[in-house]
Amino acid sequence: MKKIVITGSNGLLGQKLVKLLKTKSEVEIYALSKGPNRLFNTKAYTYYNIDLTHFEAVQDCLNEIQPDVIIHTAAMTNVDACELEQEICDRMNVDLVSEIAGYCKRNDCYLVHLSTDFIFDGNKGSVYKEEDLPNPVNHYGLSKLRSEKVIEEVGIRCAILRTILVYGLVDGNDRNNIVLWVKNSLEHAKDINVVTDQMRMPTLSDDLAQACWLALEKEANGVFNVSSSVLMSIYDIALAVANLYGLDKKYIHPVDSKALVLPAKRPFSTGFDLNKSIAEIKLPSYSFRERLQVFKDQLTKHDESR
Ligand SMILES: NC(=O)c1ccc[n+]([C@@H]2O[C@H](COP(=O)([O-])OP(=O)(O)OC[C@H]3O[C@@H](n4cnc5c(N)ncnc54)[C@H](OP(=O)(O)O)[C@@H]3O)[C@@H](O)[C@H]2O)c1
Repeated sequence: MKKIVITGSNGLLGQKLVKLLKTKSEVEIYALSKGPNRLFNTKAYTYYNIDLTHFEAVQDCLNEIQPDVIIHTAAMTNVDACELEQEICDRMNVDLVSEIAGYCKRNDCYLVHLSTDFIFDGNKGSVYKEEDLPNPVNHYGLSKLRSEKVIEEVGIRCAILRTILVYGLVDGNDRNNIVLWVKNSLEHAKDINVVTDQMRMPTLSDDLAQACWLALEKEANGVFNVSSSVLMSIYDIALAVANLYGLDKKYIHPVDSKALVLPAKRPFSTGFDLNKSIAEIKLPSYSFRERLQVFKDQLTKHDESR
C-alpha cells in the first residue's frame, strides 16, 4: 500500500485527486485541508482539518501518517489577493513548500508539486517549453517560481506540474471558474467584458488530477507542462462556452487587457508545448472544446442528482 497525502483536498484539484485515488486499490489516502471537509462523499480516506501554515502541526501530522508520496495542491491561488497580501502569499506559496520539501528530503518521500503558466511573462510569441526562461509579471507568478526553486535547492524526488487556467466541478463550494462565470453570466443576461489579447490553454481539473497520478505512478522527476492542447484567446473561450450551451453571445464584450483595472497584471500568451509530458508521463492530449463537452456532461449529471 502506498500512503498518499493530498494537501488542499477541499480545492478544485484536491477534490478531483481524492475522487481519482479512491478508484485505485493500491493506495491509502490522507486528505489535508483547512476547515470542514467539503467533499460530499467522505468514505474510504482520512481527512485532517489543518491550517498548513502552522508547520509544526503539519509535521506532527506527516510524522503520524509517514506518507510515501505528498501531492501538494494547497496554495494561495487568488492572483489579485497575492498581489495585495504578498507576505501571506509568500508564507503559503513559498515557505510552506520549502518546509514540505525539507520533510520529503528527511523522510525520502516523493513529492508532486503544482505550479503555473504565470511564471512566464507571456511575450514569447509561441508556446512555452519546460526549460524556457521564466519572467513572472505578478506576485503570484513570482511566488510559484520561487516554490519551484526551493524544491530544486533541497534536491528531492519530485515532479513539478505546471498548469493553466483550471476549471471543473467542486463539491460544497460556489467557487467560480472561467466556464461557470461565462455560463452563469449569459444565463442571467449579464454583460461581461472578456479580453481578446490574453491567450490560454484551459485545463479540466480531472485531467490535471490524472496527470498527477501518471507522474506519481512513474515517480517522474522534473518539470512537466499540463494543459489542453490548443491555444485560445479568453474571448474565444467565452464564445465556445456560449456556443456549447446555446447562449446569447451579445452579452460577451471583447476588450483588451488595458481596459481591465486589476491589482495584478496578467501575462499575455501562456500556452504550453506538451511534447515532453506526452512522451515521458504519457499525458493524453485534448482540445479545450473536447473537454468542455465532458465538463458539460458532468454538470448535467451533478444538477440532476440534486
Ligand atoms: N486554478 C488554476 O487556474 C491554476 C492555474 C495554474 C496553477 N494552479 C496551481 O494548481 C494548484 C491547485 O490549484 P487549485 O485551483 O486546486 O486551488 P484551490 O481550488 O484554491 O485549492 C487550494 C486549496 O488549498 C486550501 N488551502 C489554502 N490555504 C490553506 C491553508 N493555510 N491550510 C490548509 N489548506 C489551505 C484551500 O482552502 P479553501 O478552499 O478553504 O480556501 C483550497 O481548498 C495550486 O498550486 C495552484 O497554484 C492553479
